Amino acid sequence: ALPAKSLASAAANGLRLVSVRNSSSQPKVALLGASGGIGQPLGLLLKQDPLVAHLALYDVVNTPGVAADLSHIDSKAKVTAHTGAAELHAAVKDADVIVIPAGVPRKPGMTRDDLFNTNAGIVRDLVETIAKAAPKALIAIITNPVNSTVPIAAEVLKKNGVYDKRRLFGVTTLDVVRSQAFVAELKGHDATKTVVPVVGGHAGITIIPLLSQTKPSTKFSDEEIAKLTPRIQDAGTEVVNAKAGAGSATLSMALAGARFANALVRGIKGDKNVQCAYVESDAVKGVQYFSTPVELGPNGVEKILGVTSYEQKLIDASVAELNKNIEKGVAFVKGK
Ligand code: NAI
Repeated sequence: ALPAKSLASAAANGLRLVSVRNSSSQPKVALLGASGGIGQPLGLLLKQDPLVAHLALYDVVNTPGVAADLSHIDSKAKVTAHTGAAELHAAVKDADVIVIPAGVPRKPGMTRDDLFNTNAGIVRDLVETIAKAAPKALIAIITNPVNSTVPIAAEVLKKNGVYDKRRLFGVTTLDVVRSQAFVAELKGHDATKTVVPVVGGHAGITIIPLLSQTKPSTKFSDEEIAKLTPRIQDAGTEVVNAKAGAGSATLSMALAGARFANALVRGIKGDKNVQCAYVESDAVKGVQYFSTPVELGPNGVEKILGVTSYEQKLIDASVAELNKNIEKGVAFVKGK
């Protein structure tokens, strides 16, 4: 169950960018895909994060320019540029947190799964080097399809004998950010004080906003839920269509990525906090990876907070039903 205390702490600090005092460590954050639509504004936000001591920017193109530009900002983080595969090792070596938005985004008419062929190889190759150069880093994957790129990363880490399920995350923070924005807009709440957990995965119907757990406690009519839920699930497509071929969400994703990276660094520094993230999880029977609120600490995931027993029942039932439907279809073709 998701205790009220964890939601309260999420409301207080977990889902916002927060600084921690009195820490001596010097966190290094590596950003892979730093020259892209997400990478550049995310680099800007990470450069401003008071907890980041070293920001290593990696991409296959344009990194020196982005790094020169960011390095002129009068904030604490030291900025280094790393371009091309030969410089990846140095970019990720000794990193505490590695954030990955490298890869192609959607164009109108595409699903996240359509990106699989290109992005699967990019993530596999990046993680292959991370496994050797930074096996203890916390890895936050933004590259879509997140539902599949996280298992890809896990398999590469396992192959290298360094997989630790507490240290690998699919970034679903944007689903939380969007839910909070939409709920606040609809209900006239202060968006900065609205907390909506989102569980499941990061594509279409696998995105499950837990509107019933909104803080401050909020009542929704059936009609409002029926409108809000698909809007949250399809919010990425709303942006893809509005950008009309120029890419997918970059600015809101940069904010979400910076918030999540900040939460990981705070956890490393001992400031435990709660975030929703897509991780290897036993929260829900029959699915190996699932996003729920998780408590972050010095080693990444400290505790999987799961969902309430009521929601767990709904999800369990849907997973069981889904698996039955899938098996039935497979058996039909295989003639069993
Ligand atoms: P973009 O095309 O603007 O930028 C991608 C960057 O990755 C480019 O600078 C490119 O040079 C770089 N890149 C390509 N191959 C690389 C490699 N092997 N190593 C390092 N860098 C490499 O794309 P954008 O808009 O920044 O999106 C990036 C990814 O984030 C996409 O897969 C997109 O679907 C995903 N995304 C995820 C969201 C989430 O909520 N998790 C939300 C929005 C986008």
